[in-house]
Amino acid sequence: MGRDLSKVLISEDELQTKIRELAGKIDADYAGHELLIVGVLKGAVMVMADLARALHVPVQMDWMAVSSYGAGTKSSGVVRVLKDLDTDIAGRHVLVVEDIIDSGLTLSWLLNNLQSRNPASVEICTLLRKPDAVKVPLDVKYVGFDIPNEFVIGYGLDYAERYRNLPFIGTLAPHVYGGE
Ligand code: XMP
Ligand code: MG
Repeated sequence: MGRDLSKVLISEDELQTKIRELAGKIDADYAGHELLIVGVLKGAVMVMADLARALHVPVQMDWMAVSSYGAGTKSSGVVRVLKDLDTDIAGRHVLVVEDIIDSGLTLSWLLNNLQSRNPASVEICTLLRKPDAVKVPLDVKYVGFDIPNEFVIGYGLDYAERYRNLPFIGTLAPHVYGGE
């Protein structure tokens, strides 16, 4: 482990086991249907790649990139679409795949946006969920892990664009983000 990491929160094995478990539930729920999984760039890249390979229902993949406006590091709920879907989702079964839900504001906006395009259904799958997410009335059908309110990196999640390629989820040592 590099000295930038304070600890491994979720190991590679635990992640892969959870992804298979989520895929099993999704396969059962969408049996007989075709599914469009929508990854939110860039954080969801790893979850999308592993989840897609673990699913057995017919799957198409599409991507959105959004940025949250707001002062400071907290999400404001005001969202700008940087890259929209290539797919017309009217009549489609859509599953939004996220790396992490923190305040839930970004996803709540995204969900309203997607619902206005008349899909057959929209559900959410997130690998990680932080405690603040319970404050937003968001119906998240698939959750990998509920984690403590710490800044996490790896498996798609970054600190200043670094560490996305780690195969596990870790927490950052305080000295990296300005601690001692
Ligand atoms: P919301 O709107 O749910 O925003 O507050 C979620 C987005 O915030 C980012 N985020 C993190 N990124 N480690 C990260 O690398 C974290 O611990 C973390 N917590 C929140 C992330 O972009 C997510 O999509
Ligand atoms: Mg994200």
